[in-house]
Amino acid sequence: MSRMDELYTELTRLLREAALLSSCGSVLSWDEQTYMPKLGSAHRAEQLGFLAGLAHERSTSPRIGELLSELERSGELGDADGDLAVNVREARRTYDRQTKLPRRLVEEISRTTTLSQQAWVAAREDSNFNDFLPWLDKMIGLKREEAQAVGFGDGVPYDALLDDYEPGMTAAEVHRVFSPLRDELVKLVAAIQHSSRRPHIEILSRHYPKTPQIVLAEGASKAIGFNFEAGRIDESAHPFCTGIGPGDCRLTTRYSDHHFNSAFFGVLHESGHGIYDQGLPVESFGLGIGQATSLGIHESQSRLWENFVGRSRSFWQYLFPTAQTAFPKALGDVSLDEFYFAINDVRPSLIRVEADEVTYNLHIMLRFEIEQQLVSGDLKPADVPGVWNEKVHKYFGLTVPNDSNGCLQDIHWSAGLLGYFPTYALGNMYAAQLFVAAGRDLGNLDEAFSRGHFKPLKGWLNEKIHRHGKRFRAKRLVEVVTGESLSHEPLIAHLRSKYSALYGL
Ligand code: CO
Repeated sequence: MSRMDELYTELTRLLREAALLSSCGSVLSWDEQTYMPKLGSAHRAEQLGFLAGLAHERSTSPRIGELLSELERSGELGDADGDLAVNVREARRTYDRQTKLPRRLVEEISRTTTLSQQAWVAAREDSNFNDFLPWLDKMIGLKREEAQAVGFGDGVPYDALLDDYEPGMTAAEVHRVFSPLRDELVKLVAAIQHSSRRPHIEILSRHYPKTPQIVLAEGASKAIGFNFEAGRIDESAHPFCTGIGPGDCRLTTRYSDHHFNSAFFGVLHESGHGIYDQGLPVESFGLGIGQATSLGIHESQSRLWENFVGRSRSFWQYLFPTAQTAFPKALGDVSLDEFYFAINDVRPSLIRVEADEVTYNLHIMLRFEIEQQLVSGDLKPADVPGVWNEKVHKYFGLTVPNDSNGCLQDIHWSAGLLGYFPTYALGNMYAAQLFVAAGRDLGNLDEAFSRGHFKPLKGWLNEKIHRHGKRFRAKRLVEVVTGESLSHEPLIAHLRSKYSALYGL
């Protein structure tokens, strides 16, 4: 074994051990949100805190730093896009980010997050922003400290936070694609508002018994390619996907007897995340090549299956007869086109998580604009409700009745997740670009969907996206796969053509 091989083998072992510890934490978190009895929460918090500490200690071990330096100095890492160079690059990135943060700051952020989330839950219940204000203020201060510690180019602290979720992305780049998208979306939403056509959305709140809902949703998940031998779907209050490790990916959803959309499209969405996790190279567990490249790309996979496939007419040409058999009372008198229109209802609303495919991105932009100003110091936390309500009026023409339905609706800021929101809308843009490229490579996708053939698309995503892990940063991945740079145009083209047909614009 060469010196170089020895160093790399040792590095790999240390990284895998740290990843194993984290993945034990993932099992415990999954259990906490699905089956754990209520009284277990204090002990679970201790277990998770202990494991997180161990994992942090492992992943910041000075030995990793030494190995990285030696490997980097060797000049033998080969092709910059090769597995070896990528794994070293990504290990360096994680190591630097974690070791640059002083322990005091990490602990302070962790403590504050727990308390601030509790304060947020109570403030949201009472719809009283002032109860949350001191915590928001404190959290912004801590995240600004974090940005300073991690460092950033161009004097934009927000970039350091965004970079944690979307490596290599900058606020300027997000702004470049968001601005034209926002202008186009506002126009499209207004045109839809003026249309006299309206779907019969009441058909989606008829009675949908739970058991056939489970059968239909799990059947669809399996059909698009989620592997139930390497994963499962359970129930939780807030749907999520967690890739525990090779061969084990957990999804959750929630069922409601009078809402067809939430469980079915929730399962498609989480299955998209799950198919990505299941497509990562098993042998690279714990290394860069074995990890998803960014949250935005992760979200592109979920949105692609949920919206571009699951909300297409061709998908329902395939599945609607099965749905009618599963729910004869609710759907017996409904036509395919009525159903297709209903699941694509567009209307401005106050709540992000309930928003449709068109208005959703506006919810994200509003949050991006506000959090960027909070981090830069241009906006005082106390002024958030006023600015929020103003923007909701400007983008949606709606009046916010109270902060619960306004700036207190999302958990993110209370949990210290600043810089996270843009990844949702970036995901929609990546999804649109990837979907166009897939269509170019694979031919008529609608025809395949209408016959229930999803393998070609799933295989294409495995090949182009999943198996690469972190080989390419999101921006470059899109360029490599589609031949074009990140743009708002494919998304707006998709929305315009689909909704013009539905609403007769
Ligand atoms: Co998602």
